Amino acid sequence: MKSVHVGIVGLGLVAASHLKGYASHPHAEVVAICDLDKARANQFASDHGVEAVFNSYEEMLRNAPINTVDIATPTFLHPSMTRQAAEAGMHVHCEKPFCRSVAEGLEACDAVRRNGVKLVVGETYVFITSHIKARELIDAGEIGRPLQIRQRHGAWFERERHVVEEIPEARNWRVDGEKSGGGDYPWIFDHAVHFFATAEYLMGDARIAEISAVTATCKTDSNGRGAAHDPYSIPDVDIPIITWKYEDTDCQGVWMRAERLNGKYDYMHGFSTTVIGERGMIEVLGEGGHNLLWNGEQQHLLLHREGEETRAFRFDEGGDDVWQSDIRYYSRGHINQVHHLVDCVRNDSSPRYSGEDGVHAVRCTLAAIRSAREGRPIDVHDIAPDYTAYS
Ligand SMILES: NC(=O)c1ccc[n+]([C@@H]2O[C@H](COP(=O)([O-])OP(=O)(O)OC[C@H]3O[C@@H](n4cnc5c(N)ncnc54)[C@H](O)[C@@H]3O)[C@@H](O)[C@H]2O)c1
Repeated sequence: MKSVHVGIVGLGLVAASHLKGYASHPHAEVVAICDLDKARANQFASDHGVEAVFNSYEEMLRNAPINTVDIATPTFLHPSMTRQAAEAGMHVHCEKPFCRSVAEGLEACDAVRRNGVKLVVGETYVFITSHIKARELIDAGEIGRPLQIRQRHGAWFERERHVVEEIPEARNWRVDGEKSGGGDYPWIFDHAVHFFATAEYLMGDARIAEISAVTATCKTDSNGRGAAHDPYSIPDVDIPIITWKYEDTDCQGVWMRAERLNGKYDYMHGFSTTVIGERGMIEVLGEGGHNLLWNGEQQHLLLHREGEETRAFRFDEGGDDVWQSDIRYYSRGHINQVHHLVDCVRNDSSPRYSGEDGVHAVRCTLAAIRSAREGRPIDVHDIAPDYTAYS
């Protein structure tokens, strides 16, 4: 008997990847779906064989035979929808970024705690197999103590047909300062949570303490559009480099962007990370990653150690449903995170990426944006609960 009965709200770009996760878990089933767009909801229902279709979230919470909600709506709806679900006694899987301010995120966490339900924030970068393997190698002491993280963000592969080619009215939330949460930096707000989550995950959960952003206004892309994989990003205002210190002052990190958006070339594609340790180094691909070569072969993770042969790893786990990447990001990362929520519900265990973790990643992102606005390093603890990037 399946024990986790799910209603998915928000049937856009990411929803089908979540559905794959529930469909492949023996104890979960998607029994209801909801979207404001009736045609989209009906199409999704017929594509995936879901019977209960709603156009109102409140109605789905009231009337659907569910005990779990999957929130895949635009960012500005995440905290209120999480709160409503928790108050209706439902477990929650919620997409990132979890909130737009620390206060609204913590309020939602409070509702989750008071109602004794589970909440997993869908921070895919800590559920992707290549990163999980990197963390396992670090925990096993393979590179000694990790001391430095270097992340890069190159162009994505060009798909023949972009999944998000057009900019329909319904997707304008991505470039709207308030709805995206990012003010002048909507793309950074949407993505930096991934980067900070990875930076802490691969540093053994060390917490980031202070963040500095380098800004740029260079606009060399001839068509004036955004990044190759995401035409919603804006080239006019950008943060191409972010650096940070951890609470442990021996450790530090940097994220840098080198992609079509600002006319910069990088032979590596997508997201990749290098973790430098006392005795070795790990290079690992993330979202959309490609061109991590070793002895002429494409690899997904390289482990270099002083005085030892380099070891290379691949994770061939099926196709990438959304981007044209080499590590099958969408297929496995989303499946892993959704399975984790189902397992937490069934085993009454604590999520390994909680609402509070999601709030912390947003706090770091707000510190990066505030640093860009004020031109100085920002202590993440100085982000007031009601600070937003759009006001
Ligand atoms: N983890 C990842 O790797 C990843 C990838 C893509 C998107 N995301 C996140 O997922 C979220 C959704 O992104 P997307 O690209 O799928 O968005 P989208 O714009 O493609 O789809 C959002 C859907 O929500 C629906 N919607 C809006 N308001 C609603 C409401 N009140 N009730 C019901 N439905 C409503 C819209 O009609 C639309 O169908 C975002 O927060 C985004 O950051 C995460």
